[in-house]
Amino acid sequence: YENLVVLGIETSCDDTAAAVVNSHGEILSQVISSQAELLARYGGVAPKMAEEAHALVIDQVVQEALDKANLTERDLTAVAVTIGPGLSLCLRIGVRKARKVAGSHNLPLVGVHHMEAHTLIARLVERELQFPFIALLVSGGHNLLILARDLGHYIQLGTTIDDAIGEAYDKTAKWLGLDMRRSGGPAVEELAQEGNAESVKFKVPMKQHKDCNFSYAGLKTQVRLAIEAKRINADICLASASDEERQARADIAASFQRVAVLHLEEKCERAIDWAVNIEPSINHLVVSGGVASNKYVRARLDEVVNRKGLKLVCPPPSLCTDNGVMVAWTGIEHFRLGRFDPPPPANEPEDAV
Ligand code: KG4
Ligand code: ZN
Repeated sequence: YENLVVLGIETSCDDTAAAVVNSHGEILSQVISSQAELLARYGGVAPKMAEEAHALVIDQVVQEALDKANLTERDLTAVAVTIGPGLSLCLRIGVRKARKVAGSHNLPLVGVHHMEAHTLIARLVERELQFPFIALLVSGGHNLLILARDLGHYIQLGTTIDDAIGEAYDKTAKWLGLDMRRSGGPAVEELAQEGNAESVKFKVPMKQHKDCNFSYAGLKTQVRLAIEAKRINADICLASASDEERQARADIAASFQRVAVLHLEEKCERAIDWAVNIEPSINHLVVSGGVASNKYVRARLDEVVNRKGLKLVCPPPSLCTDNGVMVAWTGIEHFRLGRFDPPPPANEPEDAV
């Protein structure tokens, strides 16, 4: 295949995203329409509402991605779309759009797994990244350690037994009364810089377990109790809080972050030891997903990886959080190996999907 030009569509959660990428790994365009305002107003994702929000903007987002790339649908080689995991009502909006574009122009279709996309985007960012490698995927809904042996061949080393780290960040932000118009993670990260990370002694989860699994539900509870003990009122926003109260909130944010990330560090070390033992050619740890855009997370994991003699690959924040580029790129990776579906019929009725 000479030069593939692939449109990627992502609608698995609360962002409507599209991008055009070519097989040289050049990002020709990237567009994201976020539902952050809706989320802040209603305090979470309601599937039906998210579906309507996706439906409202999907045509425009895809058109903008094509326009920015100076292309039309006819110039594409294939269309890639996230088919799961995610909210099925939301996924369907993206899949319908992808089938419509592909069907109209006789283009092959590549169905993409959201977590594989978070993983493989690292191979666009770091062209030297070869299989096998280890990946830590940290987002709002997932907390995974995997051994990527080859394209499409992944071994799960660990997962969360309850909540993902991003969920713990989001709840901590909410209970600390931080601005929820954007996702909670960045708000906690920012406030933590003003805090003393040693001031609240949270317990590191799963210390006694000799596996690579995660648990964040207990830490969430510890944070909630600490917030109650300090009588922090989340109805008073941070900007209106007294200096003393602001410091108390920052101390909790910093203490939470230290322990939440320590948990990642410990399990990554264990996973590296285990995986390198069976795959000595491993050179890299990939860290991706929304939480990987956190600077403290990146710095701490970089130290772990250096100690183990490996290299860290962590995509820039815009490619760590949900985006269309990772879907387009994963589509390209699969397409190159002949793994794609034939074009859907033209004029397929919408409710067929
Ligand atoms: O990958 P992603 O965009 O969507 C999912 O697939 O879930 O990840 C979103 C999660 C949210 O929980 C958000 O709070 C978290 O990633 N996140 C962060 C940061 N940026 C996003 N968590 C900590 N620090 C950040 N800077
Ligand atoms: Zn994601």
